[in-house]
Order: sequence, then structure tokens, then C-alpha cells
Amino acid sequence: MPAFEEHHLLEISLAFQIYGEILHAEPCKIGHINETYIATYNQGGVPVRYIHQKINTTVFKDPDGVMNNVLRVTAHLRAKLQAAGAADITRRSLTVIPTRDGRPFHRTKTGECWRTFVFIEGLRTFEAVETAKQAFEAGRAFGEFQQLLVDLPGKRLVETIPHFHNTRRRFAALQKAAAEDRCNRAASAKAEIEFALTREKITGVILDALAKKKVPERITHNDTKFNNVMLDVKTGRACCVVDLDTVMPGCALYDFGDMVRTTTSPTLEDELDLSKVKMGMPMFQALARGYLEAAGSFLTKNERALIAFSGKLITFTIGLRFLTDYLNGDTYFRVHRSGHNLDRCRTQFKLVESIERQEEAMQKFVNGL
Ligand SMILES: Nc1ncnc2c1ncn2[C@@H]1O[C@H](COP(=O)(O)OP(=O)(O)O)[C@@H](O)[C@H]1O
Ligand SMILES: [Mg+2]
Repeated sequence: MPAFEEHHLLEISLAFQIYGEILHAEPCKIGHINETYIATYNQGGVPVRYIHQKINTTVFKDPDGVMNNVLRVTAHLRAKLQAAGAADITRRSLTVIPTRDGRPFHRTKTGECWRTFVFIEGLRTFEAVETAKQAFEAGRAFGEFQQLLVDLPGKRLVETIPHFHNTRRRFAALQKAAAEDRCNRAASAKAEIEFALTREKITGVILDALAKKKVPERITHNDTKFNNVMLDVKTGRACCVVDLDTVMPGCALYDFGDMVRTTTSPTLEDELDLSKVKMGMPMFQALARGYLEAAGSFLTKNERALIAFSGKLITFTIGLRFLTDYLNGDTYFRVHRSGHNLDRCRTQFKLVESIERQEEAMQKFVNGL
């Protein structure tokens, strides 16, 4: 790591209640939102590691709100695990290290916001699901996370990104982008725009169910990608859910839907060979089994009935966002090649089609669990 950053981290490290001197630090390559560093300290003659993380304040404009949520959520998880007599609690949930003046994060003179966590040893994350067992573990981890937070006391958590999964708004944004066609790209995405427009009726299904209280608001993770689940290196079991910036009031189904999107196809988000993009039933079954093993205890009949649909809806919603960004000139998602956002949109929409073909069978499987 460049000397400047190491020096900078030294300064950061002094702000936190860590007893010992920093030996070295290295950047963690996983994760795309925050800047994450692994730092080793000499603590009483023993090397101890911590995570220092710079909060992305472009995405999270209210770091106080974010950290307030994170503190409440982690304290509750810890209390629940303790009450259940769980072992290894500091490996099962994130532990925030406060600053020397007792705050949950440190603001530098230049306005950077830094936080520190206990580094959890013996765990690792993967970019993509490779086996059905991993899909099961992902489902179980996020299901358990939601389950432990069902009875979080106190007032409503802060919405760290308002309207995050609001498909109706995303749809309206696409209509606007297509009508304006600021970058003259609509002609090259004619088929995709049409694909989106013909599916307007699905955009309000969960929003309406929430508004009519047919489906309850819950505390949800909202970024249920597989690289946010840390697995035990030895056993492969999910141990700890990380990346708590988007934990906020939401719908349990959105979390599950995003797991379907990111774990059931063997392809990456921007796969060019669309023939490979497919919702794999064995992966889905493992994912649903894991999720319901934990979440089955609290999900209502109405939530259960929308489980397969949620996979389609979230995949469609993310596809809408990629398409909108393509039409608007790639201002939100970072692109690495020309047409990258259109490629990503095509992958999502191909997956939507694959889910549409199997939706009934997916739901039938869930009903039988
Ligand atoms: N407490 C921790 N102990 C060990 N590794 C961690 C810890 N917190 C985060 N990580 C690692 O850092 C990566 C990025 O952190 P994350 O909070 O997910 O940031 P981002 O929002 O950038 O994805 C995680 O995927 C995980 O591999
Ligand atoms: Mg992450």
C-alpha cells in the first residue's frame, strides 16, 4: 500500500479506542462501496487485527444515521445471541470500536468519515456462489439476520437510502429517461425498453401490499449479495452478515428477491453470453430451504405467497436501473466498457424471463417447505 495511505491510516487509528500500536495495514479488495482496510496492531505483545473503513458519504449522505442504525442493530444481535447462549458472539455479529471520545465514527478535518470494527478471524467471503451448500448458507444467514431483528425495540430505523427498492419510482425514471433520450441511445435499447414497458403491472404488487398492510414492514438488510456473508473457512457455514449500511425498514421479500438475483444463475451480472444466464432450480431450492429454515418462523402467509415473485421483481428492478443509467449516459453505475450498463440490463432481463418460465414451479417448491 502506498506510504501516504499507511501514514493516513496511522492518524486514523489513533482516533479509536484500540490499545496497542499499529504495525501495518493493507486494503481489502472485496467490496465496492466503502474503502476497507485490514490493520494489525501489537496489543499486549499479541498481533490483533481490526477493520478500518471509510464510509462512502457520496452514497450514504447521513453517516450519523447510518452509524446509529448499525449500533442499534449490532447491540441487539449481540443481546439476542447472548440470551440464546450462543458461543463465539464476536464472530457472529460485527462489533463497532468507538472513538476515544465515545463516538461511533471519526470525522477527519477534511470531512472523511471512518469507523472501526473488530476483525473477524477465520472467515472469508466469496464473490459468487459456487455450490448449492453455499446458496443454502446465504439464505440461512440473511433469514437468521432478519429473524433476530424482528423484535428490535425503539423507534423506526433511519432510511439510509430513501425509496431504495421502490420499483414504481424506478419504472417512472426509466420512462423519463427513454422519453428524454439525452444521449441518443434509446434506439440501441429498443427491445429492452419494450421489455420493461410491457411489465408495468408487476411494479406495484409489493408496494401496494405494503401500503395496504397485507405485507408487514420489517427490518431488512437490503444488500443481500453473497459477498456480504462471511463463511467459516473450516466448516463453510455462514457465521456473520456484514455491510450493514443499508439495514433499514423494508420488506423481507426484497432481501430474498435480491438473493435469487445474485445466487441462482451461474453467471456474473454483466455476462455477454446470454445463453448461459438461467435461474438454476437446484440453487433456488437450496437458497429457499436455507432462508425458510430461519425465516419460516416469522414470515406470514402473504409474504410466503410472494417468494418466487420477489426474485422476478428485484431482478426486473435492477435491470430497470441499469437500463435507465445507460440511457442517461452512465452517471450512477461505474462502467468499464462501452454499453456496459446495457449488457448488465440484458443479463437481468434474461434472468427475469428465466424466472417467469419457472415461477410457478419455484413457488410450488416453497409452498411444500
Ligand atoms: N469485521 C470484519 N472482519 C473481517 N472482514 C471484514 C469485516 N468487515 C468487512 N470485512 C470484509 O471486507 C469486505 C468489504 O466490507 P463491506 O462492509 O461489505 O464493504 P462494501 O460496502 O464496500 O461492500 C467484506 O466483504 C468482507 O470480506
Ligand atoms: Mg459488501
